[in-house]
Amino acid sequence: LSSGAYDRFASGGGSRIDVDAFTAFEVAGWDAKAAGYDDFLGQVTGRLVEPLLDAVDVRAGVRLLDVATGPGYAAARAAERGGSVVGIDIAEEMVAVASRLHPPLDFRIANAEVLPFPDDSFDAVVGNFAMLHFARPELAVAEFFRVLAPGGRLALTVWDTPERARLFGVFLDAIAEAGADLPREIPVGPPFFRFSDEQEFARLLEGQQLESIEVESITFSHHVSSSDELWSGMLAGTVRTSALIQRQPDEVQEQIRAAFERVVQQQRVGDGLAIPVAVKLASARKPERSR
Ligand SMILES: C[S@@+](CC[C@H](N)C(=O)[O-])C[C@H]1O[C@@H](n2cnc3c(N)ncnc32)[C@H](O)[C@@H]1O
Repeated sequence: LSSGAYDRFASGGGSRIDVDAFTAFEVAGWDAKAAGYDDFLGQVTGRLVEPLLDAVDVRAGVRLLDVATGPGYAAARAAERGGSVVGIDIAEEMVAVASRLHPPLDFRIANAEVLPFPDDSFDAVVGNFAMLHFARPELAVAEFFRVLAPGGRLALTVWDTPERARLFGVFLDAIAEAGADLPREIPVGPPFFRFSDEQEFARLLEGQQLESIEVESITFSHHVSSSDELWSGMLAGTVRTSALIQRQPDEVQEQIRAAFERVVQQQRVGDGLAIPVAVKLASARKPERSR
């Protein structure tokens, strides 16, 4: 299956995004999955924090905004580097998890598309696996640009295509192999793999007058002890991917699970599974003088 076909699943099947419906689905989803996310998927996304902070050159005194902070991994590490940090997230429960894990830090509930900060107030903005969750990514990047000081830096990560980001690919393969339909009540969302395309990712940043744009690939393998751990970890810690499975009738869920067991056999190494993870990291700078 091509990424385009996967996107019919991962985006809810249509082309017109209902911004309010999609955003409400994300908020409710992340409120419910915040703890599960930290238990499993956070171990993977946490591995991108250092490259992300390096890309925006976080050091002592840097004013950093971590957008869609989730459990606050990038914010916490930036604070350890001596940065002055704020983390925002739209889901109240995610902000609660972040505040519990990192009590001294400043976490706030906010929508990335309408940031509650004045112009030019940060030296760096990062978003670790943030962009694929926004109904209007262009609006979010325009906000990042606005709150960045001249010369300030931006860095963002997204998953690569499901053929390479097998953490998601194995689930989407299993859904396709089981011949499952799209659950009707998943609202149409932005294409999950849109920015896996390097040129598309770069165009998003160019469109907002950012400069020194670079997009790089990062790959590694994530070890899990069993297919059970992977299945329950991803269902407990994702929103759109888990909904594609958990909103199916029981017998379809069983077919997907059986297909999943066949698909993951390809990743078996010794006693466990080695899951290929692939990520795109984009970075850019706000010009010293706005054009
Ligand atoms: C995959 S998690 C990423 C968490 C974290 N950045 C990390 O390093 O693992 C995506 C996060 O985006 C948040 N989110 C979704 N839509 C948002 C929006 N419009 N504004 C701010 N945060 C949003 C979700 O609540 C969730 O915490």
